[in-house]
Amino acid sequence: MEKQVILTGDRPTGNLHLGHWVGSLQSRVALQHSFEQYVMVADTQALTDNFGNPQKVMENVMEVVGDYIAVGIDPQLTTIFIQSQIPALTELTAYYMNLVSLSRLERNPTVKAEIAQKEFEESVPAGFLCYPVSQAADITAFKAELVPVGADQLPMIELSNEIVRRFNRLYNTDCLKESKVYLSNTSRLIGIDGKAKASKSLNNAIFLSDTPGTIREKVFSMFTDPMHVHVSDPGRIEGNVVFTYLDVFHDDMEETALLKERYARGGLGDVTLKSLLDDVLQRKLQPIREKRESLSKKYLLEICFEGTQRAKSVAQKTLQEVKDAMGIDFFSDNIK
Ligand code: TRP
Repeated sequence: MEKQVILTGDRPTGNLHLGHWVGSLQSRVALQHSFEQYVMVADTQALTDNFGNPQKVMENVMEVVGDYIAVGIDPQLTTIFIQSQIPALTELTAYYMNLVSLSRLERNPTVKAEIAQKEFEESVPAGFLCYPVSQAADITAFKAELVPVGADQLPMIELSNEIVRRFNRLYNTDCLKESKVYLSNTSRLIGIDGKAKASKSLNNAIFLSDTPGTIREKVFSMFTDPMHVHVSDPGRIEGNVVFTYLDVFHDDMEETALLKERYARGGLGDVTLKSLLDDVLQRKLQPIREKRESLSKKYLLEICFEGTQRAKSVAQKTLQEVKDAMGIDFFSDNIK
């Protein structure tokens, strides 16, 4: 039986962190064995809100790919590719753009929230408003059946499926396939400051590439319980970032349970607790960091090149089907 196709992507705006690791990277490492997996570095999409700083986006492409390989995404099993290097994706976007109304794009709740947060003010770039259309091109180009993403991406998959239905009906074809969301990251990792989400822009994340010293510093700056002043004070578990991270990263759940008990009762100091989490994270991140350091730029480029070549031919084939369905064909037999 043929393997089902899955596709995901990341915008290369910075190094990947623990939130990405538990939210999506670990599941990609697992899924690559039983699915035909494509992982896209969405540099074109990242430009829609970083158009003033393309250098930042381009520099981060190889950083992100380094993170992928370091955590165990295997280029033999997963096709890793760079969005901007596949013209078929841009062409598909151009055709799909006509099948979506402006008001439909303006209703996308994720895009709405991003616009509010980014302070584009009056001048939202058309490219930004339309990035969900380009995302539909990404998904349909590879005929992805499953798209493993977080809940914030649900509106994108919905729009992509609307485009598929509209296209197939309008041009009387079945060349495009609908896809399903595979909700991989049900829980997002909270930031070290206790804010809802670990993110680069909030500067509250531990990166996979952080040095041991930085990891330690970040663990020791974690938000715990401001009322827990003396070791003997009873402390709060709820909202205590150290315990949230122990729940996620400490394999010895029994020990975590015992620590919670002691902390709640009083008698367990923050320093002891944080040292333990520091040990746990250092142990987990050391092999990732070492793997990352062993990867040459040339090797990463080769992986991207090979993956992009493979992805290019798949996307080109879908584009040809799309153009055939629309009857866009001039030079194929007449002129050689
Ligand atoms: N929008 C996604 C994000 O910000 C990235 C992305 C681009 C993507 N194209 C995609 C995800 C296609 C899944 C499928 O995380």
